[in-house]
Amino acid sequence: MKVCVITGGSRGIGAALLKEFKEKGFFTVNLSRSESIEANLNIQVDLSKFDDISMAVSQLLEKVPRVNVLINNAGIGLYESWEEMSMEDLKKVFEINFFAPVMLTKSLLPFLKETQGSVINVSSVAGKLYVSYMGGYCASKFALNAFSDSLRAEVRKYNIHVLNLIVGRIDTGFSQNALGSKKPPETFGGSATAERLAQLT
Ligand SMILES: NC(=O)c1ccc[n+]([C@@H]2O[C@H](COP(=O)([O-])OP(=O)(O)OC[C@H]3O[C@@H](n4cnc5c(N)ncnc54)[C@H](OP(=O)(O)O)[C@@H]3O)[C@@H](O)[C@H]2O)c1
Repeated sequence: MKVCVITGGSRGIGAALLKEFKEKGFFTVNLSRSESIEANLNIQVDLSKFDDISMAVSQLLEKVPRVNVLINNAGIGLYESWEEMSMEDLKKVFEINFFAPVMLTKSLLPFLKETQGSVINVSSVAGKLYVSYMGGYCASKFALNAFSDSLRAEVRKYNIHVLNLIVGRIDTGFSQNALGSKKPPETFGGSATAERLAQLT
C-alpha cells in the first residue's frame, strides 16, 4: 500500500487532502499537534520545534515501510505590520511554514528516492504577490516557493516530483488561527472550499 505523509491533517486543507488520499487507497499519516480522525496513523508533533520533528520522523520510519508522498501542508498566518510585528511571531511563522517543510523533505528524501515519490508543498498566492500587513507570511511563502522550484530541478534525476500548490483563499479557520493583530473579518467572502481544492489536487 502506498503511504502519504501529511502535515496539518487535523483540519482545514490538510484534512481535506488527507481524506482524498485515503479514498484513493493511500495509508495516510498525519503529523500535527492534534489528531485527525481520518488518518490511519497520527504522530503528534509541534512543527515549530526541530527536536519534535526529528522524533516524529523516527517514529514514522519505525511504523511505515515506505513513503510515497510527502505533503507539507501545515502553515500559520501572520497579519501584522512590519513596524509592530514581534520577531518571535515572525520566527514561528518561518519555523512552521518554511523550516519544517525543508527539514521533513530532507529527512524523507532517501525514502522518496526509493519510491520515486512526490513532494507537495502547500503554498499561497501570498508567495507570489506581496500584501500589506501580511509581509511576514508572504516572505515565508516566497521562501517556500524558492525551495520548491530549486528542489524540483535538483531531484528530477531521481524521478521525484515536486508540486508547489499555489492556493488562493480557501474557507478554513486559517485567518482566525493566525498570529497578529490585523486579522481580516471572518466574513471575507469569495472563498473556495478545502474539499474542492483537495479534489483538484
Ligand atoms: N486557507 C487559506 O485561505 C489558504 C490560502 C493559501 C494557502 N494556505 C495554506 O494552506 C495550508 C493549510 O492552511 P489551512 O487554511 O488549512 O489552515 P488551518 O485550518 O489553520 O490548519 C492549519 C493546520 O496546520 C497545523 N499546524 C499549525 N501549527 C502547527 C504546529 N506548530 N505544529 C504542527 N502542526 C501545526 C494545524 O494542526 P494542529 O493545530 O493540530 O497542530 C492544522 O492542521 C497552510 O500552509 C496555509 O498557509 C491557506
